Amino acid sequence: MASNRGKRRSPLAANLMNHAAELRRAFESRWRSTPRVFRAPGRVNLIGEHTDYNDGFVMPAAIEFSTWVAAASRPDRILGVYSENFSEGREFPLDDSAPERQNHWSDYVRGVAIVLERAGHRLRGANLLIRGTVPIGGGLSSSAAVEIATAFALVGISQITLGRTEIARLGQRAENEFVSTRCGIMDQFIACHGVAGHALLLDCRSLEFQLAPLPAGVRLVIGNTMVRRELAGGEYNRRRADCQEGVRHLARSLPHVQALRDVTLAQLEQYGRDLPERVFRRCRHVIAENGRVEQAAAALKDGDMERFGKLMAESHASLRDDYEVSCPELDSMVTIASVQPGVYGSRMTGGGFGGCTINLVREEHVEGFCATVSRLYHETTGRRPLMYVTDAAGGAGEVMPSGSA
Ligand code: GLA
Repeated sequence: MASNRGKRRSPLAANLMNHAAELRRAFESRWRSTPRVFRAPGRVNLIGEHTDYNDGFVMPAAIEFSTWVAAASRPDRILGVYSENFSEGREFPLDDSAPERQNHWSDYVRGVAIVLERAGHRLRGANLLIRGTVPIGGGLSSSAAVEIATAFALVGISQITLGRTEIARLGQRAENEFVSTRCGIMDQFIACHGVAGHALLLDCRSLEFQLAPLPAGVRLVIGNTMVRRELAGGEYNRRRADCQEGVRHLARSLPHVQALRDVTLAQLEQYGRDLPERVFRRCRHVIAENGRVEQAAAALKDGDMERFGKLMAESHASLRDDYEVSCPELDSMVTIASVQPGVYGSRMTGGGFGGCTINLVREEHVEGFCATVSRLYHETTGRRPLMYVTDAAGGAGEVMPSGSA
């Protein structure tokens, strides 16, 4: 598994089975029945930040950090949930007519059950044992991994057939409607549709996507600034409101505009001059970022990693200056990383305000890169980072059906 400094190969398959087998044993001793085990991954986003809720383009990849859920049905209509990470459990009646959010980790699990039932799917009562290795609050989508692993588990043991895109949408709804975070679709979508060795070029309006193979010999190196994204919720929603204000204003002159996806930079210059300066910059980021994703996809197809890396740098600068979702620690890590040997590109990844950077690094330079970035980042900020080396991983699924060894 992805881990600290110096690890070169992640024995993913063995690792998956180890987690699954351990979790199954833990489930059996807790609930005296044999579970099925499901997994969903966290993600990095290579480029296309804060574009998903503007109907735009993103290019995420699933990573080897994951959430595992061991699940077995029970005869009543109760959902029993235990988190190994929090060493804590809860029980919820599935028939609760007015369930309330509790600002608790279990909201993500319960929210998924609620939206499934509201969508007309009758769930069986179930016990769920959850283990996650996606760093919490690190901007690698630990919450989407919990939602999607839970959805696969509940759907699996209730024998409901749902497509991956539908599951992604339900995961997003759980977060929007029950947890009350107004996230876009990117994180849940990549958790469902990730393919090993590939990023996804996703159109967040049509939800059509193309696989984007990542070149051999280039690894994904994640740098955790160890700044937790605590203020992120309110700021995230404020960015969304700024974008909506931009759309409302631009649609007065350009009636076809439903989202910033429909606006060009030239149109923003022409029709957006009366916008508050802050809103203008927010719009400029989103519109330019959409263009960068398309250019990055073309660069990847041509094998032009230098160009891809330049676009990552432009993306980071735009997130820092126009969208204002970076922070000094992210900027410092990106500045340090960008000048290291073997690095194609470096930028913040995810919602921002702390969390992680994503770096594309040539295999033979990974070890030196991790050591040097760790040292210089610590010298600059006084914080000790964590560096994780990973490859693009596969999406959610069942890891171990009950009965298998
Ligand atoms: C968070 C959200 C995503 C997306 C990113 C920013 O991760 O959950 O939907 O908006 O921020 O790109």
